[in-house]
Amino acid sequence: MAVVLTIETTCDETAAALVTDEFVVLGSVVASQDKLHERYGGVVPEVASRVHFERILPVIDLVFFESGVNIFSIDAVAVANMPGLAGSLLVGLSAAKSLALALGKPLIAINHLQAHIYACKISSGVDPFPCLGLIISGGHTSIYYCADAINFELLGGTMDDAVGEAFDKVAAMLNLPYPGGPSIERAAVGGDVSAYNFPRSLLNESDRIGFSFSGLKTAVRYCLVGNGGSGNPAEVAAKLPNTEIANIAASFQEAAVDALVGKTLQAMTKSGVRTLCVGGGVAANGRFRKKIQEVTQKQNYNLFIAPPNLCTDNAIMGAIAIERYKRGLFESLDLNVSPGLIR
Ligand code: KG4
Ligand code: ZN
Repeated sequence: MAVVLTIETTCDETAAALVTDEFVVLGSVVASQDKLHERYGGVVPEVASRVHFERILPVIDLVFFESGVNIFSIDAVAVANMPGLAGSLLVGLSAAKSLALALGKPLIAINHLQAHIYACKISSGVDPFPCLGLIISGGHTSIYYCADAINFELLGGTMDDAVGEAFDKVAAMLNLPYPGGPSIERAAVGGDVSAYNFPRSLLNESDRIGFSFSGLKTAVRYCLVGNGGSGNPAEVAAKLPNTEIANIAASFQEAAVDALVGKTLQAMTKSGVRTLCVGGGVAANGRFRKKIQEVTQKQNYNLFIAPPNLCTDNAIMGAIAIERYKRGLFESLDLNVSPGLIR
């Protein structure tokens, strides 16, 4: 049995896991920085990398301690080195290289986006490839054709904001805490989804695989400050009753989910692929999960979506490293980070 240590520091979660080549998870630790970034309304890259630096060794220590695995008995060290925040990626990569060198074990590179889709395989125990991969997170909103676990072709992505970014920014306008996705979802409970008719961008362009969320974000802003207004939306929102915040949150969430689900269905039709895997933090959203389940079931498509704790950043999805381990795809210690690159 081979055991791989996986390390994840692409954004603001410091995470490590131990997985076997049979996909058994021996241990997993995720240290979230949400509380530290909350007062800024979003991830501050410099803060994120400094905190990764403080936490990376305790997190790795803890995963070995909790699993009872002996560090000298592992067979490889894997790390997400792309895409992500440069300063954050560098901390994970440095830790992984040091361990690989000190232990004399091979180093494996993980593409964070591919790992998000791989979470579907880990959680279902079924090989979903080939499939379309929808990645909806704070940094990405893209659809890939995934021939297998490590060969992805980009079919289309967002023209502007990532959907998670839109959730985070709208939450800030409504004075809801970071991360915005879970806050909006909570605030939307009991709200009227049709109180405001926010835009569902690009749905009328059925042939185009892509997304756009900046118009939706601006529509929420104007709903608060008036059309073309330049006032501070958070100050306006602070004076609104909770029922009105719930209506805005519910209407925004519904529009974002409709755009995601609608454009994804169009991509399924256009590509002719009948299996869909969804990954990334926004895939934890209950409303999205319900709607994507309904429409894919209606079309008889196969849907794979990981449980919410495997949608947000974690190191268990780094089990994709097993695919590279089995193929002997190892890296030299010259491996660098690729913040914006998709391989
Ligand atoms: O995948 P992830 O943990 O990190 C990135 O790779 O970006 O995704 C984080 C994003 C944040 O924008 C967060 O607001 C969003 O996922 N998110 C959600 C929910 N949980 C996290 N968005 C909507 N509903 C949720 N329940
Ligand atoms: Zn992610």
